[in-house]
Amino acid sequence: MAKRKKIGLIGAGNIGGELARLFANKELGDVWLYDIPAKENFAKGKALDLEQNSSVIGYDSAIRGTANWADLEGADVLVITAGIPRKPGQSRDDLVATNLPIIRDVAINAKKYCPNAFAIVISNPLDAMVYEYKRVTGCSRDRVAGMAGVLDSARFQLFLAREANVSIKDVRAMVLGGHGDDMVPLLSCTTINGMPVTQFISKEKIDAIVDRTRKGGGEIVNLMGTSAYYAPASSAVAMAESYLLDQRRVLPCAAYLDGEYGYRDLFIGVPVVISGNGVEKIIELPLSENEKAMLAKSAASVQAVVDVVKKTA
Ligand code: APR
Repeated sequence: MAKRKKIGLIGAGNIGGELARLFANKELGDVWLYDIPAKENFAKGKALDLEQNSSVIGYDSAIRGTANWADLEGADVLVITAGIPRKPGQSRDDLVATNLPIIRDVAINAKKYCPNAFAIVISNPLDAMVYEYKRVTGCSRDRVAGMAGVLDSARFQLFLAREANVSIKDVRAMVLGGHGDDMVPLLSCTTINGMPVTQFISKEKIDAIVDRTRKGGGEIVNLMGTSAYYAPASSAVAMAESYLLDQRRVLPCAAYLDGEYGYRDLFIGVPVVISGNGVEKIIELPLSENEKAMLAKSAASVQAVVDVVKKTA
């Protein structure tokens, strides 16, 4: 008999909880919410609350909390949010010292207990954390991606839809590069149901929206005192769902580049096809000179953080 998929969520905090809720609601598999021993009861309590919710909502997924990696053995998907989020005034890169030992700990255990899992990293600074996860696990590049582009594109799409006063469903956009203030929204790929966005919104307004998108995470940190969790969780679930259901969605994700776009040994956001094989394909788009320059700036920012990470390896 077919068994349900096993989903391991590493970090049972704000994003972890919302991830568990979404995975269960969509019945994508049984969910393990892992956190450190000091937070074991918290993870178990959250899992129990979400399981009780199944009776009201009507899903059959099991949700369990744990502080024991052995429970995650053989997981099909891992979504990693372990670490601390930003506080007002902090950049994502400010988190590197705290979150680097955490991602290393996670990667060592993932390698031991879930060597075949498709891993989605959310912990920040994203592009450096996903790099370190791949380096420590030694996994192939199809097995791991960072969640940033789906979220950054979602923010961009929302602001464009509100400005154009059209349904969010009809706005499509692609944001590439690192998950930082230098991210690269591609206007050439931004349409309202196939029509160029420039038909709907003036250049000045688009520029302001690009700026707001780049600072989109910080805007929420300043309002809430911690970082966003609903849209980040949905974005990671879209990636996981494409893997679990072999949907072959084309999504902007932080992928390991080996010469694509002229970069090597670096994770940055690019369009990829996620299938049942994981990151099956990286799509290379022709970029304008301006887009190339923006991507180079973004890649240099990511490389600077990765260099710090490499020095301590
Ligand atoms: N293994 C597993 N979990 C860990 C570990 C570890 N080694 N170290 C810390 N954690 C847990 C924390 O105990 C906490 O419960 O990670 C959880 C993080 O949850 P939150 O503090 O609520 O943070 P969240 O908003 O979920 O963001 C997590 O994602 O978007 C990024 O910048 C954000 O890096 C941050 C991460």
